[in-house]
Amino acid sequence: MKKYYIFSLLVAAAVIFSYCNPAKKAAGSTEAKLTYEADITALIATNCAPCHIPEKGGNKKAYNNYANVKVDIDEMIRRIELNPGEKGFMPFKKKEKLSDSTVNVFKKWRDQGLAEK
Ligand code: HEC
Repeated sequence: MKKYYIFSLLVAAAVIFSYCNPAKKAAGSTEAKLTYEADITALIATNCAPCHIPEKGGNKKAYNNYANVKVDIDEMIRRIELNPGEKGFMPFKKKEKLSDSTVNVFKKWRDQGLAEK
């Protein structure tokens, strides 16, 4: 009997969730707009330092700089989507790609129009 109770609770939860989600999407405004300052700088500091951060001793193109990132974003995305070992892969010489969710933040930011803040 207890099993049925739990099962029906799960069904109820599933139904409630499936009603919530489309409502959110329809509203549109809940989709957060990504910005360079809020979303991209931290990813670059984590994944592209020190090489692309002059203050950290990097001597490659500076990406702690909105103007450069804005111009290079397509090339940055192309390179982080390569596989380790492929020519041009970034982060340089690392054995693992950035996670899909990290790559997606870069892509989504580009698709939303590259807002600075
Ligand atoms: C360990 C050092 C290192 C890290 C970390 C690194 N890079 Fe690089 N990057 C390089 C080197 C070295 C080059 C020059 C060689 C080349 O073009 O492949 C370069 C070149 C580039 C270029 C071409 C720049 C130009 O002048 O046209 C892009 C774009 C790039 N990196 C993106 C990234 C991104 C995005 C990250 C972080 C996700 C990253 N890199 C992390 C070392 C690094």
